[in-house]
Amino acid sequence: MRIDVLTLFPEILSGALPHSILGRAEREKRVEFHLHQLRDYALDKHRIVDDRPYGGGPGMVLKCEPLVRAIESIQALGEPAHVVFMTPGGVRLNQAIARKFSEKKRILLICGHYEGIDQRVIEGWVDEEISIGDYVLSNGAVAALVVIDATVRLLPGVLGNEESAGNDSFSEGDLEGPQYTRPEEFQGRKVPEILLGGDHGKIREWRAQRGREKTKLIRPDLL
Ligand code: ADE
Repeated sequence: MRIDVLTLFPEILSGALPHSILGRAEREKRVEFHLHQLRDYALDKHRIVDDRPYGGGPGMVLKCEPLVRAIESIQALGEPAHVVFMTPGGVRLNQAIARKFSEKKRILLICGHYEGIDQRVIEGWVDEEISIGDYVLSNGAVAALVVIDATVRLLPGVLGNEESAGNDSFSEGDLEGPQYTRPEEFQGRKVPEILLGGDHGKIREWRAQRGREKTKLIRPDLL
């Protein structure tokens, strides 16, 4: 898979992408990351990419020309990318959307800043608007990193068996149940007896039940 990101702050991503599972996935050539500086596509010598909103109001809006020049240049670098604009006004990211992205050959994530981007870019050049949650970040690059992580870990071969995504929270609808590791007793708190017994059928059932209880309690909307 190829992931392109268009942003005013590529350093936010270049600092994070080489590490852990994302870094390993890229080194093993399961994914390619390409970061693009939006200012490189500005038309003037001051490299201006934003302007005041028509109709007034606070903040600045990313202008059409640099964005469209960038998107079209980036699109020309490979096969057509699915274009995603990161915005708190988008559809909220979930595991199904991450899975859908992981099945695409190429995605282009556009990161907003300031008050947003000119609506005409969204209408003409964007396939989908995605939010990572109901809060406002100062920078879409942080949101893009979340989308990249959730997507790349689902690519074939990225997680080993040990790390498998199969029993993650959300993969079956419920949250994941609790996990324990050694020691068997820590400051008076014991590991549940059932996990020490080795009956894997019973353990699976117990974990599913604990996951369901947790889901009922804190995320009833998932049921
Ligand atoms: N940009 C700012 N806030 C965001 C959010 N919650 N999701 C996606 N992009 C954003």
